[in-house]
Amino acid sequence: MPQIRALRRVASLLTTPLSPEDFLGLVNPLSSTRQLRGVVTRVTRETPESTTIHFRPGKGWNAHEAGQWARIGVEIDGVRQWRSYSLSAAAGHDPAITVTAIGVVSTALARHTTVGDVLFLDTPQGDFTLPEHPRPLLMLTAGSGLTPVMSMIRTLVPRRPDADVVLVHSARTREDALFHDELLELADQFPGLVVKHWYTREGAAPAGAGEAHGRRLDLETTTDLESLCPDWRDRAAYACGPADFLDAATALWERDGADDEHAGLTIERFAPVLLPGTGGEGGLVTFEKSDKEFDAPGDVTLLDAGEECGVVMPSGCRMGICRSCLTPLVAGKVRDLRTGEVHGEEGDLIQTCINAAAGPVHLDI
Ligand SMILES: Cc1cc2nc3c(=O)[nH]c(=O)nc-3n(C[C@H](O)[C@H](O)[C@H](O)COP(=O)(O)OP(=O)(O)OC[C@H]3O[C@@H](n4cnc5c(N)ncnc54)[C@H](O)[C@@H]3O)c2cc1C
Ligand code: FES
Repeated sequence: MPQIRALRRVASLLTTPLSPEDFLGLVNPLSSTRQLRGVVTRVTRETPESTTIHFRPGKGWNAHEAGQWARIGVEIDGVRQWRSYSLSAAAGHDPAITVTAIGVVSTALARHTTVGDVLFLDTPQGDFTLPEHPRPLLMLTAGSGLTPVMSMIRTLVPRRPDADVVLVHSARTREDALFHDELLELADQFPGLVVKHWYTREGAAPAGAGEAHGRRLDLETTTDLESLCPDWRDRAAYACGPADFLDAATALWERDGADDEHAGLTIERFAPVLLPGTGGEGGLVTFEKSDKEFDAPGDVTLLDAGEECGVVMPSGCRMGICRSCLTPLVAGKVRDLRTGEVHGEEGDLIQTCINAAAGPVHLDI
């Protein structure tokens, strides 16, 4: 755009030692062409631990599909940290993320974000999305795993009179159940949505008949599922939640699911599946360009090791999917924490989010 080019030329005369990008970023935080950003427009507390952050993205953002996620970056103590978050808003609406405070970045986002804050962004991605052709759906979610499914429900249910969705959502208590009231209202309003809450904590206050259970949903057998959704085998199922919940669901569908390509189970994980006990001895990791070292135990990823000693590590999903973290290996061997395999030759690109040091390692970063 000519006006922006002219402004950038003027900026380059006026801004030394700031670069034109820095200067334009100060004038309009969404203007940077180097890094996609978004401005926080609304912050809503959902549960004691979870917050929805609505934002208006700058140029370069692609509209999300229901169920997709995006990398979100925030500066914490001067270091830009990236994590992935599902977009909980309906497709076609301004994006929002719903963050549950469990660690460094999520706590900063969930507890300290305010309207006007700037988030660093990457474009939406992921294939945990609605099927192309409408069909009966079963959504099986636990905890913050409801977020991508909420986007699907918000997108599908009000717009499609032929929607047929059963949501089984497990939370510790009603107070912890994300989007509780909105879901019940949607189910009241649209016959195409049935919502079943399952509360795992003993004595969880029941919101309605049969809503408090005081134990975890048993996915080792089909009994709970049969009682919640008798035709579960005939539905295309989507599941998102903690690792053990998803492992149990996967095993159940493999064992007892229907032999029908349209009625399978699609899952979304928020964390990688690491093989227990795969960590070996570890070693000293040298981040050559950053001139930093870290003595990393064998079960600590190279990504965590780098961030721990202040190296700005590239990252994305942090679970071995997106390959944003690829970093050249200069010397040494690494261990894949998902399989235990020790590998690595000079020049290999290493996924730092799922590999740990297996002895001394040098990385070109
Ligand atoms: C595709 C994708 C979508 C995601 N969507 C969301 C979302 O919508 N809302 C959300 O709150 N988080 C979501 N996450 C998780 C998020 O990216 C972070 O991992 C999470 O916020 C923890 O980051 P942290 O820096 O606070 O914790 P850290 O300090 O980095 O580490 C905390 C530990 O918790 C583990 N962990 C990650 N997620 C969970 C979880 N949900 N429950 C329990 N332990 C977990 C991590 O593996 C790590 O070991 C998603 C992750 C992925 C890969
Ligand atoms: S951060 Fe996505 S593969 Fe490593």
